[in-house]
Amino acid sequence: MSYQIAIDGPAGAGKSTIAKKVAKEKGFIYVDTGAMYRAMAFYLLSEGVDPQDAEMIAEKCVGADITIRYEDGEQVVLLNGKNVNGVIRTEEVGKMASVTSKNPKVRERLTALQKELANTSDVVMDGRDIGTCVLPGADVKVYLTASAAVRAKRRYDELTAKGEICDIQKIEEDIIARDEQDMNRPIAPLRQAEDAILVDSSDMTIDEVADKIMSLCK
Ligand code: DC
Repeated sequence: MSYQIAIDGPAGAGKSTIAKKVAKEKGFIYVDTGAMYRAMAFYLLSEGVDPQDAEMIAEKCVGADITIRYEDGEQVVLLNGKNVNGVIRTEEVGKMASVTSKNPKVRERLTALQKELANTSDVVMDGRDIGTCVLPGADVKVYLTASAAVRAKRRYDELTAKGEICDIQKIEEDIIARDEQDMNRPIAPLRQAEDAILVDSSDMTIDEVADKIMSLCK
């Protein structure tokens, strides 16, 4: 049986930074499920699909073959065989992913791949529905959150470090809208699993959060 650590939480809570660190310390693979939803959204955007057209999304999503591989320990997402890591981290793709991830057909395809990965390797997997739907039997479940203001500041710092010009107020509004959307969709909404440990990282350092998760594994 593989060992499974599930980390869920809203946008910008620091899931990927923490998950990567814990995966490295444990020698597990890190599976970033948001990147898979982003790759799907990127594909649908490039196909010109209207985000509100659920039928078209269901029809078109079967044309996206999404797989992952690891290069120097980093997850690389392949969309129809091409590395899309460099193009999926934009706000446009993130917003599209939040909308298109509501589609049952999209979730069915990506959830199957996530389950398969977790069955074959020890994993730290992060997302929105890992503890509730993808890996309900995970050994450790964490719901990682932080205030919207702290999350907006982190995203702002990340984007400005990449040279992007952005407005922190607008980022916070977008984060709140994304939370609303991810928490209130009918299928696999973002919520804390009953047996997940709540960690609020607003006033914690990366190391403190990672240590907390490591201690939960003991
Ligand atoms: O974590 P992220 O910002 O890369 O995720 C982008 C979107 O993908 C997020 O707003 C909702 C969706 N998502 C999801 O529905 N389920 C997951 N397990 C991961 C992400």
